[in-house]
Amino acid sequence: MVKKQKLPKLGFLYLDYVLRFFDYSNFRGWPDKIEEVTYHWKNDKTRFINEVKRKKIDVLVGNIPATAYETFKEIAAALPHVRFIPSIETQFSNKSKENVTLFCEKYNIAAPKTIITYDDKKADKHFKNCSYPQIVKRSYGASNYGGYFVHKVDNYREAKALFAEKKYKPVYSQNAIPLKDSGDIRVMLIGHKPVCAFWRYSGAGQWITNTSQGGNMSYDNVPMNALELAVKASKAAKAEYWACDIGIDENTNKAYIIECATAFAAFPYIRDWIGQYIMWDLSGGKFRLPHVPLFSWEELGKMDPSVLRTLRHLYFAKYEPSADGAYWLADKGNFDMQLTDEAKASDVPESIKPPLKEEELPTFLKEDDVATLSKIGEERLYNVVDISLTELMTLEGMEEDVAVNIKELVEEKKITTFEKLADYFISSKEQIQQWSKFFLK
Ligand SMILES: Nc1ncnc2c1ncn2[C@@H]1O[C@H](COP(=O)(O)OP(=O)(O)O)[C@@H](O)[C@H]1O
Ligand SMILES: [Mg+2]
Repeated sequence: MVKKQKLPKLGFLYLDYVLRFFDYSNFRGWPDKIEEVTYHWKNDKTRFINEVKRKKIDVLVGNIPATAYETFKEIAAALPHVRFIPSIETQFSNKSKENVTLFCEKYNIAAPKTIITYDDKKADKHFKNCSYPQIVKRSYGASNYGGYFVHKVDNYREAKALFAEKKYKPVYSQNAIPLKDSGDIRVMLIGHKPVCAFWRYSGAGQWITNTSQGGNMSYDNVPMNALELAVKASKAAKAEYWACDIGIDENTNKAYIIECATAFAAFPYIRDWIGQYIMWDLSGGKFRLPHVPLFSWEELGKMDPSVLRTLRHLYFAKYEPSADGAYWLADKGNFDMQLTDEAKASDVPESIKPPLKEEELPTFLKEDDVATLSKIGEERLYNVVDISLTELMTLEGMEEDVAVNIKELVEEKKITTFEKLADYFISSKEQIQQWSKFFLK
C-alpha cells in the first residue's frame, strides 16, 4: 500500500503569547527534524515568510488566533507551496462568531437564526420584531471566554440597554435555543470522525453552560444527531481536526451548531491522535491511522481529569472478531476517519463588509492588543487566590484545561501568589510573564 517516498518538511506554526497546541511529543515517531517558526506580531510578516522559505518548510501545522487571521491570509498567499494544517480557509470560523454563522449559512448547517448588522436602524427594527429571548454576542475575537461576551435579553428594552452599554459592532444576535437538559455538547473530530464528545451542563440558576461557573459535564448519552451535525460541519470546513459546540432544542430534538472552530482545548492524548492522523496523511499512509472507537469517550471519561491530563499516546487495536462475531461488530454509521479534501479560496463565505475599516470598529482587537489586552471589563488587578475561572479564561491565550489546572493548584493551596505559578508552568514562562501585569504582586 505504501510507496517509498520522501516525507515533506514539517514545521510548527507558533505565535508569541499564544499557548501551543502541538509540540514534538504529539508527533512521536516522525523521523525527520520538525522545524518551528514563531510569529512575533507587529509587522513580522515578511520576516516570518522568509524564515519559512529559508527552512524549506512544506507543511506548517498550528492554529491561528483571531487577531492574526487576516495577516495569515496574506502570509499564506505569499507561500503558495506551503500547506497549512488546518488550511487558512478551514480556520475562517476561528476568527469570529459572525464567521461561524456565515460558514453555517453557506453550507446549510443548522445554526440559530442570527442577525449580523452594522446598521443601527436595522438592528432596532430586528429587536422590535424578533422573538425573545435573544442571545447577543460580541462577534469578534477568540471564543471560549466562558460566556463573558454572551448575553441573554428577554425583551426590546433589555436589548436597547445592553447595546447602550456594550457598543458591540457588528450587532450579532440570535434566537435562543431552548437547550435540552440545560446543556450543550462539545464534539471533537479528527479526519471527520468524532473522537471525543461530552455534555456541558449549566450551573444551578444559570442559562449559560459554563463549567467554570459551577456547571458540570458528562461523557454519557451524546445523541447521534449531534455527532452527525458535527461531521457535516467538519467535512464542510475540510478540517483535519475540529470541534463543535452543539445545542439540542428540547422541544424538537433538533441539533444546532453554537460554535465551531479548529482552536479548542484538548487533553494531550487527543492532540497525540491528531498528530498521528497528520503523520498518516503526510506520509501517504506509512504511519498508522489512529483507530478511535466511537463512544470510547464514555469509557475514558470515567477517569478523573487529573489522570486524563497525563495520559499519552493511547492506542486502540482494531478488535478482530471471529467469523461469528463479525456481523455484530461491523462498524455502524458513516464515522470513518478519512482524508480531508483540499481547501480552495472559494470555500470561504463572503464576509459582511463593515462600514468602517475593521480596525476602526469599537470592538476590534488589533494585533498589538494581543500583548496588552486581556484586561476585559474591570481595571482592577486580580489576586491569584480568588480569581474566578471565568476571569482566568479572559486572559489572552488561556486554555480551559490550563485554567482548570491553575484553579486546582490554588484550591490545593499549592499556589498562593502569582509568582508561584511559574514553578508549575515552567514551559510557558513567556506566557506567565504576559499575564503577570493583570495580577497583584
Ligand atoms: N443561541 C443560543 N441559544 C442558547 N444558548 C446559547 C446560544 N448561544 C450561546 N448559548 C450559551 O452560551 C454559551 C456561550 O456561548 P458561546 O457562543 O459558546 O460563547 P463563548 O465564546 O463565550 O464560548 C454556550 O455554551 C451556550 O450555553
Ligand atoms: Mg463557547
